[in-house]
Amino acid sequence: MSFLVARDMRGGYGAEDILQGCTVEADRGEIAVIVGPNGAGKSTAMKAIFGMLRLRAGSITLDGADLTRMKPTDRVRNGMSFVPQVKNVFPSMTVEENLEMGAFIRRDDFSGTMDEVYSLFPVLAEKRRQPAGELSGGQRQQVAVGRALMTKPSLLMLDEPTAGVSPIVMDELFDRIIDVARTGIAILMVEQNAKQALEIATRGYVLQHGRNAHTDTGEALLADPDVRRTFLGG
Ligand SMILES: Nc1ncnc2c1ncn2[C@@H]1O[C@H](COP(=O)(O)OP(=O)(O)OP(=O)(O)O)[C@@H](O)[C@H]1O
Ligand SMILES: [Mg+2]
Repeated sequence: MSFLVARDMRGGYGAEDILQGCTVEADRGEIAVIVGPNGAGKSTAMKAIFGMLRLRAGSITLDGADLTRMKPTDRVRNGMSFVPQVKNVFPSMTVEENLEMGAFIRRDDFSGTMDEVYSLFPVLAEKRRQPAGELSGGQRQQVAVGRALMTKPSLLMLDEPTAGVSPIVMDELFDRIIDVARTGIAILMVEQNAKQALEIATRGYVLQHGRNAHTDTGEALLADPDVRRTFLGG
């Protein structure tokens, strides 16, 4: 059984189910990537795994523990951390204050973790006293990822971490995400830059209409003519 298992998720925001039996898994040290068209339910799946959406059916387990009925803060205590697609930093707070906010559940000394974040993203150390809202898009995404790392998660969930950044900044962010995975953290990531994301994915999911349309290794999905034609633009 995988470290994270989100099995057969069903549910949505009203009468109609957005998730219609979606399953995703991720292991420690691995990068699992969800791709798919706009409105497919990728963000909804991430919210459901993090407990921001009540599921009508399905289950979420992390390291064998059933988290299905837990609220988000308790999921954080159990090792989950989530960077949402939008509003993922506090713009008026400094970089350092954002990281401190990330450590909200911790009662121990988190200065070592903050140093780790600064060595992962050196530019954040330079800008620690600057409001996050004054940073570039790529730097703000670093703040958001850094903030999520402050709880020392075992599962890091990222919803479109490279949205709106240049190809060079995207490559740099992906390299840092690979670094994080190498420390043994499980990564579950939604990506609009599907080709580039599947290149670094050990496991890939193509989501369509709230269902798994294709599930395979990143490499196999990239080689699949049907996936290429339908989702990757040839
Ligand atoms: N808070 C909400 N209330 C009602 N419907 C919503 C809400 N959020 C999303 N939806 C609907 O659920 C469906 C799936 O949305 P979701 O945001 O999960 O898609 P997505 O795959 O993340 O898309 P994108 O690639 O644009 O980020 C869409 O039809 C959307 O309109
Ligand atoms: Mg989305």
